[in-house]
Amino acid sequence: MSVVAIDGPAGTGKSTVARRLADRVGAHYLDTGAMYRAATLAVQRADVAPDSDDVARVVAAADIRLAPGEDGTTVVTLDGDDVSAEIRTDTVTADVSAVSANADVRERLVDLQRDHADSALLVVEGRDIGTVVFPTAALKVFLTATPEARAERRHRQNIAAGRESVLDEVLDSVNRRDHLDSTRAASPLRAADDAVLVDTSDMTLEQVLDRLTELVSERI
Ligand code: C5P
Repeated sequence: MSVVAIDGPAGTGKSTVARRLADRVGAHYLDTGAMYRAATLAVQRADVAPDSDDVARVVAAADIRLAPGEDGTTVVTLDGDDVSAEIRTDTVTADVSAVSANADVRERLVDLQRDHADSALLVVEGRDIGTVVFPTAALKVFLTATPEARAERRHRQNIAAGRESVLDEVLDSVNRRDHLDSTRAASPLRAADDAVLVDTSDMTLEQVLDRLTELVSERI
């Protein structure tokens, strides 16, 4: 089994790049952010504060599953309900960093992520894949981009998906999540020492994909 770990903050194009790369190289694709989002929805449904001690108990009892959908997307279920769209709402996004900062939650979800490691080639995207989940990954990529470029991308995605979006608010949310994700004690967002850094600020999606495909063929 070979793993390609793709980490980086929100809005670097990570999800699209990881999904399309998996498709190009014939790999399975795992979106670990979707797991943290589903865990957050479970916490909200249980009416528990995202930073309370009860979070771990709620997430331990939640049945979170990821399965490949049509067109390369991921179908996420929570206790049997398809929550693939609901986990992308602003309500979930607002609490996801707080829930992800919980060390017990991370331990549970990392176990679930490692359960997916049974395919020949797996592209995994997240924040701590190269550092914690799969530290021996054959290829580690850390995508970066300026906060402004990332907010602009998220904003365009929101509009395209028919979600209301105000650019300044998106930029605030990007900065807030970056700060929370990179300063938390449990597995903070950071590049692994042996990760290849790719700054996507001035690259098109196709250019990023070409660069990553080249790296996969060199390393795997
Ligand atoms: O990638 P996405 O934006 O869907 O991730 C949502 C949130 O889940 C991140 O802001 C981060 O708080 C958390 N996350 C994490 N570790 C991962 C993947 C996501 O903490 N491996």
